Amino acid sequence: MAKLMPPDPQVEFPFRISRFSHVEYGVRDLNASRKFYVDTMGLVVTHEDEGCIRLRALEERGHHCLRLVQADRADVRAIGFKVPDDSELDRAREFFEQRSLETAWCEPAFMERALRVRDPWGVPLEFYARMDRLPSLHQQYRLYRGVKPLRIDHANLFVPDVDGSTSFYGSMGFRLTEYTEDAETGRKWASWMHRKGNVHDIAFTNGRGPRLHHSAFWISNPLHIIEFLDLISTTGYLASIERGPGRHGISNAFFLYVIDPDGHRIELYSSDYQTVDPEHEPIKWDIDDPARQTLWGAPAPRSWFNEGSVFAGTEPVEPVYAGTPIVAP
Ligand SMILES: [Fe+2]
Repeated sequence: MAKLMPPDPQVEFPFRISRFSHVEYGVRDLNASRKFYVDTMGLVVTHEDEGCIRLRALEERGHHCLRLVQADRADVRAIGFKVPDDSELDRAREFFEQRSLETAWCEPAFMERALRVRDPWGVPLEFYARMDRLPSLHQQYRLYRGVKPLRIDHANLFVPDVDGSTSFYGSMGFRLTEYTEDAETGRKWASWMHRKGNVHDIAFTNGRGPRLHHSAFWISNPLHIIEFLDLISTTGYLASIERGPGRHGISNAFFLYVIDPDGHRIELYSSDYQTVDPEHEPIKWDIDDPARQTLWGAPAPRSWFNEGSVFAGTEPVEPVYAGTPIVAP
């Protein structure tokens, strides 16, 4: 068997990121969002006021992983990352300022100071070290409802230049785990990158962007996803089922994609793998390989390649690369 050549292990970082942590969605009807995310999906409310609901999943000790903010239009206001120590925020600021990206300090509720910056394509990022801590609900099984979501896992973004985003986030310390390449042009069509040691904290998909393609929650058991399908198909959410259940070739994830009342796409998934070794070899996929999308061969629907959530304050642009994936008829 041919010996794999591992990439140079990257052990030094301009600043350290622990993991993807949270996302802030603008939503048009907080009651409808609450019904979807709390009563149906099973997330737990940690704070609620007139304009915002903050939620966490069952394993999480951080105050929230989801902020739902009352808004006139559906959008995304922040993609959040946790850093391990407050001093990393100063190093992060230096990293972005050196690249002429404007930074701002802020103090979001239930957090100590946070650093806000937009990446070169206008994606609003929020870095913080300390968020209020709450007792774990992991073994409070009486609280498990819906799909029994344990933790937030990653964000996947439509971006207009996957090679550019992969390179920029690589310079920030994200490691590549899998990627889709067009054999003809050598361009990346998609990439998956991590900091926490599984397949991804952030992923990039070629398309009009930047826009948020989806955010994802980790589920311990694929059967929870099947049971959740029975629940939502009989409680008024049939039209929310967009894709799945299935197993991705990429990441090996057992997945389901649902659409929330504002059109935001949420992935529910389990079963990826460990990538913590610094010399972990990225897996390359060809854009024409049907097992890439779904190991069992079913292609993704057209909405998958077209629909996404806009970032507040950033106008999406057409992609520089016009590669075409396999689309369901
Ligand atoms: Fe995903």
